[in-house]
Amino acid sequence: MAELSVRAPAKINLHLEVLGCRPDGFHELAMVMQTLDLHDRLHLQTRSDATLTLCSDRSDLPNDGNNLIIKAADRLRQHVGRSDLGASMRLEKRIPIGAGLAGGSSDAAAALVGLDALWDLGLGRSELLHLAAELGSDVPYCLAGGTQLCFGRGELLEPVSLPEPLPLGVLLIKHPEVSVSTPWAYGLCRQLRQASYLEGETAFEQRRQALRQGPLLAALQGQAPWPPLQNDLQTVVEPEVACVREGLELLRQAPGALAVAMSGSGPSLFALFSTLTEAERALEHGGGALRAGGFEAWCCRCSGSGVSLDPVAAADR
Ligand code: C5P
Repeated sequence: MAELSVRAPAKINLHLEVLGCRPDGFHELAMVMQTLDLHDRLHLQTRSDATLTLCSDRSDLPNDGNNLIIKAADRLRQHVGRSDLGASMRLEKRIPIGAGLAGGSSDAAAALVGLDALWDLGLGRSELLHLAAELGSDVPYCLAGGTQLCFGRGELLEPVSLPEPLPLGVLLIKHPEVSVSTPWAYGLCRQLRQASYLEGETAFEQRRQALRQGPLLAALQGQAPWPPLQNDLQTVVEPEVACVREGLELLRQAPGALAVAMSGSGPSLFALFSTLTEAERALEHGGGALRAGGFEAWCCRCSGSGVSLDPVAAADR
């Protein structure tokens, strides 16, 4: 029986700009995404009875067809026309749920990559990226990882060329009892901001070009100081969700913080530091206030890769 494990990293948005509406009902976006070394792990084993099963260490996650992992496995079987393939999957969940960190999308990307290897399907990267885009807007990015510009619904990727993963330290916080629904956040954005949305490909492309040539990309390449980060969903979620306001205030006070923002549709928040040690120092310094506010906190590094086969488990195969 073959088995393997896959790492599924969390992402943060260093930039999230809502450009306008798309004919498919989604929003046209311009984002910069960054993977972190905080990850879930998906363990996979072949089954000979043509069934797909999932279990996890979180009782609040569905294990049936409502879980994106099962949807990904099903879609993959359908794509290769092999309903005879089966797998037992076990998810070790470390990325907070409903947090704007793309945990569910990354797990789906892990299922695609893991099952492609487990079932020896040999699908090419572009085929996997295509399937990923059908499963969710962030799934292609989670597959690729690193530092990327993401356009369209989020599925059109342009890697930011950097000599190595960003050396930054990231202090990530989230209130464990609060989650934000992504459709709700985008719906609120449409309600409050649609009057100022851009229209047409020419206007969209101008904004993409401004991002490619702007101060954030210069900061990523070490050529300029960090500008304030832009997340258009933050501007609509922050007034509605108290823990987002309180957490941002706490992070802004952290000594050495280069920039502070909400990730995705929230409610997770992060501060960037020039090194991991500085992020750890900031957590030591502000840990009491964060705990008093009810926040969980993680210190992470940036990672240069997306979903990857776990090297130890792969070697054991
Ligand atoms: O693609 P995904 O399933 O992750 O999207 C979840 C929801 O987020 C969508 O149903 C939509 O409400 C919103 N969304 C959007 N525009 C995007 C991505 C997501 O409006 N580009």
